Amino acid sequence: MATRKKQVKRIGILTGGGDCPGLNAVIRAVARPAMTSSCVSPEKVEVYGFLDAFKGLVYNKYIRLTSKNISGILTMGGTILGTSNKDNPFAMPFRKDGTLAKVDMSTRALGNYKKLKLDALVCIGGDGTMAISYKLSKIGINIVGIPKTIDNDLAATDFTFGFDTAVTTATEAIDKIHTTAASHHRVMVVELMGRYAGWLTLYAGLAGGADIILLPEFPYELDKVCDNIMARKREGKSFSIVAVSEGARPLGGEMIVERTVAESHDPIRLGGIGKKVADDIEERMGIETRVTVLGHVQRGGSPTALDRVLSTRFGIEALNLVMQRRFGRMVCLRGKNIASVTLKEATNKLKLVTPAHPIVNVALGLGISFGTDVVECSIMKKCAMTKKGKKGR
Ligand code: F6P
Repeated sequence: MATRKKQVKRIGILTGGGDCPGLNAVIRAVARPAMTSSCVSPEKVEVYGFLDAFKGLVYNKYIRLTSKNISGILTMGGTILGTSNKDNPFAMPFRKDGTLAKVDMSTRALGNYKKLKLDALVCIGGDGTMAISYKLSKIGINIVGIPKTIDNDLAATDFTFGFDTAVTTATEAIDKIHTTAASHHRVMVVELMGRYAGWLTLYAGLAGGADIILLPEFPYELDKVCDNIMARKREGKSFSIVAVSEGARPLGGEMIVERTVAESHDPIRLGGIGKKVADDIEERMGIETRVTVLGHVQRGGSPTALDRVLSTRFGIEALNLVMQRRFGRMVCLRGKNIASVTLKEATNKLKLVTPAHPIVNVALGLGISFGTDVVECSIMKKCAMTKKGKKGR
């Protein structure tokens, strides 16, 4: 006789890591149909939101989600549940006499999950949250993950939600910097977030019309950056916009660490390369140069329509996986389709910009410099080859 699958009655949900626009849209997309829709389950499902990421799970701090407290949150940035990028149940940080210690409190997290009689826990987060989720799934918590980050650096998904909004915000900032750059005939350097991946800078740089884009993946040479500014000057363009990723570094140099957050899963916080690039250009070329660090403004605000749609699709698919009891998975975007991968596959694989990426090629085709000759434009190479071929005939 076929055994019937245990009915899902109670779900937990939490948001982990750095916040980003779209988190509330996901919470709504999981909770609303779970609580109200008869096509999800004949019995209504209860949904509990843990506060401040895994900290809430460890210290049993949660709220019951209701149609009232999730109403109107689709358009809101941040997360109504709060978040943290410091609390890992397997190494919970606490300070005693000024000294930082880390304690394994995963058993307590599992105990709270059981005490609340949860059938599943939906964890929304980036690579750090997914790594913790994978470990929690191995000690007996039924987890479904949903990928978020403005960095778009998770290899298992084509796009994370939050990215499009951050690109839009950064693009608007670069647009504004353009007018003042042109008026003052200056070089304007704009530093963007993204950690070790250059996606945010690549997309916003292209969309904002940056002349030079410096990414962590392609160490730059100052000479090449200055050559490009000089070439623009010769063409009568008296200003230049340089979009720099916080993880960019000169060839042979190191990334600049702005601070270390000892409690954090990934303690390194990057920042400061924008100022270095601006100072070096000014010193080398004698052109007045200014730097703008976009910072956390890139993580704020209302999600774009694209992010709202992606968040909602992810949330609905995560709920589907929960109801089918397909745990230990993370939802993802593959082309235009929503799919899922195991949490193991989702963990510890960064997606970085490659020289052959189509967007890199488009930028090169447009004459944008990456401050290095290492990245070659295959579109232009193709054109040159076709011309040669024609000549030879
Ligand atoms: O991962 C998202 C992100 O905003 C990165 O782009 C940035 O490097 C980091 O988080 C900043 O972290 P915090 O909010 O701890 O300063």
